[in-house]
Amino acid sequence: MNTFDAIYGRRAIKHFDPEHKISAEDEQKLLQAVIQSPTSYNVQHWRFVVLRDPEHRAAIRSDLGFDQTQITDASLLILFTADTQAWQKQPERYWAEVPEEIQAMMVGMMQDFHQGREWLQRDEAQRSIGMAMQTLMLAAQAMGYQSCPMIGFDIERLADAINLPEGYVIGPMVAIGKGTKAPWPKAGQLPLQELVIEDRFAAV
Ligand SMILES: Cc1cc2nc3c(=O)[nH]c(=O)nc-3n(C[C@H](O)[C@H](O)[C@H](O)COP(=O)(O)O)c2cc1C
Repeated sequence: MNTFDAIYGRRAIKHFDPEHKISAEDEQKLLQAVIQSPTSYNVQHWRFVVLRDPEHRAAIRSDLGFDQTQITDASLLILFTADTQAWQKQPERYWAEVPEEIQAMMVGMMQDFHQGREWLQRDEAQRSIGMAMQTLMLAAQAMGYQSCPMIGFDIERLADAINLPEGYVIGPMVAIGKGTKAPWPKAGQLPLQELVIEDRFAAV
């Protein structure tokens, strides 16, 4: 599928076929595509929680997920989390396949960038999550699946329910499957002239 067809064809799908099972091969293909997403300093701090257990999913839907049907009916449901401290956990492995001097330089820069800047560690984690989510949704589209990004759940309680480790952030889920109903009509995109700023914002 052409990239633009995937971008324009992707929609937030609310209803999936609960009988459809995704093959292990397709799941691997999607996850391998997701980890091609860029991360700053190649830190790869995303951690993908694949929510498989039907009982777990049913409880999340009813207790934490505002009864959103995608949570139980998607063929694949991935919760995006990220480790904000990955930058200081054996960072050499993020540059394992480059010459030693480049590895040392990048690891050093990565430390300076993150050290003492908790706000940035969180920002980094969430922006990497966002990019990985979009990779997953576009890859799914290209493979004939539909998807829905979802943050409509009780974030704090879901963190407890999955034993989110200390120092990790929780992001949205992405539901992947075979859509059974057309998406809502597109809500409408703002005009580019409102969204694009030439060089700088107007001075106030
Ligand atoms: C981070 C994020 C969280 C979202 N959470 C939900 C959700 O919990 N449930 C839902 O049905 N749609 C959710 N959406 C879908 C948006 O409502 C949808 O993407 C938006 O209305 C634009 O529609 P489109 O994706 O079909 O173009 C979410 C989208 C994003 C990006």
